[in-house]
Amino acid sequence: MNVLIITGGSNGIGKAIAQKYFSEGYTVFSISRSKVSGVAYQQLQTDLSNTQNAVNAIHSIFSNINSVSSITLINNAGSLGEINTLGNLSPEKIQQTIKLNTTTPLVLTNAFIRLTKNLTCKKQIINISSGAAIKPYAGWSVYCSSKAAIDMITKTTALEQSELINGVKCIAIYPGVVDTNMQTAIRKTTEAEFKSVQRFRELKEKNELFSTKFVANKIYHLAVSDILHNGTIIDVRKF
Ligand SMILES: NC(=O)c1ccc[n+]([C@@H]2O[C@H](COP(=O)([O-])OP(=O)(O)OC[C@H]3O[C@@H](n4cnc5c(N)ncnc54)[C@H](OP(=O)(O)O)[C@@H]3O)[C@@H](O)[C@H]2O)c1
Repeated sequence: MNVLIITGGSNGIGKAIAQKYFSEGYTVFSISRSKVSGVAYQQLQTDLSNTQNAVNAIHSIFSNINSVSSITLINNAGSLGEINTLGNLSPEKIQQTIKLNTTTPLVLTNAFIRLTKNLTCKKQIINISSGAAIKPYAGWSVYCSSKAAIDMITKTTALEQSELINGVKCIAIYPGVVDTNMQTAIRKTTEAEFKSVQRFRELKEKNELFSTKFVANKIYHLAVSDILHNGTIIDVRKF
């Protein structure tokens, strides 16, 4: 079986990716807090801002798979967290967002590499990063930092794994500005909280957001075509 494990497959970009892989014949496992109806892939319900939950979820998935001919982990679940400038943030919310956006992808990467160690098939990790990893936005300090860390997780994972005979390939993708609940939340912020809010409102007004389906198709083709080297960080807008 060809296996996809994806975090945040209940909504937005993750749901579109899960649907795309499922339609291509993959056995898909999604991990998120809520379950969505009307989809046929398997859904595990857990809060990934608790890293022990993440460990438990990936182990439970591996106990249900066999005869694997390819396996992919997509670290997609993520949150902007509290949008405001530093000095105005709740410490608990900072911690929760970093756990979801950064610690859990690290923990899942660690578990995935260990659990697939003896598999000789194609093994891949795709991290959903953001242009915010390299462009600072006032009001998004936590989010920007968490995505910059995702990029470095991608590079270090690739560096370590490329030294192995049957290592895991790890890439990161910036999906562009995509029409999801995350963008709805951004547009609702005030200029005091998020200085660039008007730019994001205008993108929506001008109908310039990518659809989740468009982005999911791009990610799927990048993943299966094998054209990217280990450690590549790519923006879908430049591809
Ligand atoms: N939309 C954009 O313009 C954009 C741009 C750049 C990068 N991205 C990145 O793309 C990824 C997906 O974003 P999106 O726009 O699709 O967001 P979204 O529509 O808000 O979906 C987020 C997904 O993550 C899951 N999730 C959130 N918190 C969770 C938690 N504590 N535990 C488990 N699952 C959780 C949600 O499921 P539940 O609510 O069911 O838990 C949902 O499936 C994120 O990493 C984001 O940073 C998005």
